[in-house]
Amino acid sequence: MNDKCIGVFDSGLGGLTCLKEIMNILPRESTVYFGDTARVPYGTRTNEELINFAKSDINFLQTHNPKVIVVACGTVSSVALPVMGEEIKTPIIGVIDSTVEAAHAATKNKKIGIIATEASVRSGAYEKRLKSKDPEVETIAVGCPLFVPLVEAGKTNSEEARNAAKEYLAPIVAAGVDTLILGCTHYPLLADVISEVMGDSVTLIDSGKATASCVKKFLEENNLLAFDAQADDSKFYVSGDVHSFKRLATAFLEKEIETEVEKINIEKYM
Ligand code: DGL
Repeated sequence: MNDKCIGVFDSGLGGLTCLKEIMNILPRESTVYFGDTARVPYGTRTNEELINFAKSDINFLQTHNPKVIVVACGTVSSVALPVMGEEIKTPIIGVIDSTVEAAHAATKNKKIGIIATEASVRSGAYEKRLKSKDPEVETIAVGCPLFVPLVEAGKTNSEEARNAAKEYLAPIVAAGVDTLILGCTHYPLLADVISEVMGDSVTLIDSGKATASCVKKFLEENNLLAFDAQADDSKFYVSGDVHSFKRLATAFLEKEIETEVEKINIEKYM
């Protein structure tokens, strides 16, 4: 039993797709969320920038003494985690492994599409993991750079989002996949629009959701579940504008964020 918090971070709102699920399935846990909204989007950054950003995000969360840090960001999980692993003392859970497991369990025709940020697609992380699990799986990966700015602007149900989805997803529809990995944690916020284009027969895999189940399993197996933490004890920090984050996050989490969202200077943690 362990009453320390679970630290969760992303470049912005996307990681809330994972946090929301952690709050649902682990309601007694206290959580600390950091959204690096001053430096979003991550998906168009170089590998070097991403490693530095990840270091500062983790350094900040470590000031809260978490029992585990969840990298609720496909981009950091794909690019930075594989080269940082050993340096970090706190246990770290990224989104790739659990997402790949969920996609592999879902596919029947072994054709899996992946949509993610440009940096994640460039790394090939999801594809490599899928192929090493099952060499028979065929994959097609497409970067969708407009999706994150659309989500951060709250335009998840807009004509712009629909048009972007049609364009990005056309080659994936043509490839006949039966499963689509939403390889960026922002994308579940566009699930309705994505589903309209892909059709009902394609299963969408939400990387945040898959990862939350992995966090639960990790805490159970290591006897780290909260014993006496107050239910709903959650803290939120951002590096950019507090008000727009609070407004969009409240709508997404479907509950009022009761504590203050605090703005921090993330550069201090580099
Ligand atoms: N939500 C993140 C991801 O899963 C980052 C997206 C971005 O900032 O470009 O990749």
